[in-house]
Amino acid sequence: MEQKDQQEILTLGIESSCDETSAAVLKGGRDVLSNIISTQIPIHQKFGGVVPEIASRKHIVNIMPVIDEAVREAGVELGDIDQVAVTYGPGLVGALLVGVSAGKSLAYALDVPLIGVNHLEGHIFANFLSDTALEPPFMALVVSGGHTALVDVRGYNEFRMMGQTRDDAAGEAFDKIARVMGLPYPGGPRIDALAKEGNHLAIDFPRALEEKGNYEFSFSGLKSAVLNYINSENMKGHELNKADIAASFQHSVIEVLTHKAFEAVAEAGRDTLVLAGGVAANSGLEARLREEAGKHGVKFSYPSKILCTDNAAMIACRGYYQAQAGLYSDHYLNAVPGLTLTDK
Ligand code: KG4
Ligand code: ZN
Repeated sequence: MEQKDQQEILTLGIESSCDETSAAVLKGGRDVLSNIISTQIPIHQKFGGVVPEIASRKHIVNIMPVIDEAVREAGVELGDIDQVAVTYGPGLVGALLVGVSAGKSLAYALDVPLIGVNHLEGHIFANFLSDTALEPPFMALVVSGGHTALVDVRGYNEFRMMGQTRDDAAGEAFDKIARVMGLPYPGGPRIDALAKEGNHLAIDFPRALEEKGNYEFSFSGLKSAVLNYINSENMKGHELNKADIAASFQHSVIEVLTHKAFEAVAEAGRDTLVLAGGVAANSGLEARLREEAGKHGVKFSYPSKILCTDNAAMIACRGYYQAQAGLYSDHYLNAVPGLTLTDK
């Protein structure tokens, strides 16, 4: 493998941290040959959220067919794969273990290196696939179902955590509020669509930790405020204006994220901001960040919708850059459900 041109290296990526079973083949660092995603969303929708035990079982059923399809669609053979990158955390332990076991088995059977990938770093690296000219350093705003964080990406393997959420993640708040409004799981896209029809100034919801220099987030107060508002409207017998609630709630989240992101960009002296994680698919957030980036003369980039939510191409990309720095895993690699994004 030493002899192989870096641009020709084939990385198989595997992702199974939550409710998507995904496998991808990447050529070099940024050329996505395939990115197969088998989503379990319709299965979990009946329960209003992801049921961990069901997720693990579905991953077991799906993982090998998804890997086979990724290899086939890439037009290669399993034996051509040079390295295997797999998400080992954070996520649901049972779900993660399915991907980790498959990744370890394949790396062993093919006698190729194994690379354990942090899912959150993977979300950031989705940007390298959408914007192939993107290079560090840049500031990353990571907003997913489980995490909200500002990360200063100083190099491919050098990160500084500027701040993260103290309680709920942004996506979690979207999902919980949608659930109370009777909207199906996952709530983010539903609120996003509903918000377009509402007035974002109709209800003044709180914005937490807005003081200068604070890069931590808190969405539990906002979540409670929205839930209290809905309860009090119900008690008064008023009909809920769901579009106004969605627009006002989303506005409050977007303003906090935007304000902190550009403060962090300025503090770190960066000229580029990237968006990452499932909530990056939010059209209101993307539009607001783009507008603000224009005002500050900051370059703004975000992944295409399919690369925003969970997928294995972003895991393969992260794995490729880890491998370049020799950051491999051994076959004792285990799932780490509470894995965090720390300074490196
Ligand atoms: O990154 P992701 O696919 O999974 C995690 O790693 O958590 O993020 C899923 C989250 C869910 O909370 C979902 O509601 C949210 O991303 N999401 C959105 C949108 N699309 C997905 N939130 C707001 N607006 C959207 N358009
Ligand atoms: Zn994710």
